[in-house]
Amino acid sequence: METVAGIEALRGRVAAWRAGGERIGFVPTMGNLHAGHLSLVDRARARADRVVVSVFVNPLQFGPGEDYETYPRTLEQDRAVLAEHRVDLLFAPPVEAMFPRGREETTFVEVPGLGAQLCGAFRPGFFRGVATVVARLFNLVQPDLAVFGEKDYQQLVLVRRMVQDLAFPVEILGAPTVREPDGLAMSSRNAYLTPEERRQAPLLYRTLCDLARELETGRSDYASLERAAMSRLEAGGFRPEYVAIRRAEDLAAPGPETGSLRVLAAAWLGRARLIDNLPVER
Ligand code: PAF
Repeated sequence: METVAGIEALRGRVAAWRAGGERIGFVPTMGNLHAGHLSLVDRARARADRVVVSVFVNPLQFGPGEDYETYPRTLEQDRAVLAEHRVDLLFAPPVEAMFPRGREETTFVEVPGLGAQLCGAFRPGFFRGVATVVARLFNLVQPDLAVFGEKDYQQLVLVRRMVQDLAFPVEILGAPTVREPDGLAMSSRNAYLTPEERRQAPLLYRTLCDLARELETGRSDYASLERAAMSRLEAGGFRPEYVAIRRAEDLAAPGPETGSLRVLAAAWLGRARLIDNLPVER
């Protein structure tokens, strides 16, 4: 596996593969890779001739006071696991290569509506940062397909919307959330949990499982179900931001008859902000 930091080198490698008729799969990441990321890589591997992974901690998607400076950066370790997973090219650019004009002057991509709700309401500018970096990465890598985890379900829906609206010729694949044996969704930010918080953390998953079960019985008193789930998280030591029942396809508010739903939550536990979500079919 080769590692490149520069845009010209990246473009050169990918252009050569494309000229040979090869299909390019892409997995964007912020590094500090775990089994969840590697499942995305394996999915790309299964569908493409060449797999490109990016490791870039994107400053545009961190707000003031968030963990941009301290976000775990483990490039050497990431490089080793990506090589084991038969990745062809690791793109690990410096910030100046990605945003040469700096944060304030960079042209941005915004997905209105979708980007302002749920996590977007609590992290202003977050989805603008995500959409902007993903658009730029798509233009640099020019993949045929890209894989995103369902763990960040709102991000997946938003990227699909952006690809549709801006006509990127990229197929977006979602990959199921990878969980610890006790149900906690894998995340780089789980490392922020103390041992005691780590024991409490699976309550987020269990709360969403129970909420999904209630909805599967046909309940449609969404607001009271959301409130009850919030209270349960509070009682379990979390500081929940939201628990939401939404239409799976576009995260719009569901009607009583909506079939495919998604339950989503974000909650703080100590200094870790955890998010999770589950599908509901009925
Ligand atoms: O999901 C992530 O790790 C990031 O939001 C992404 C898609 C790599 C953009 O920085």
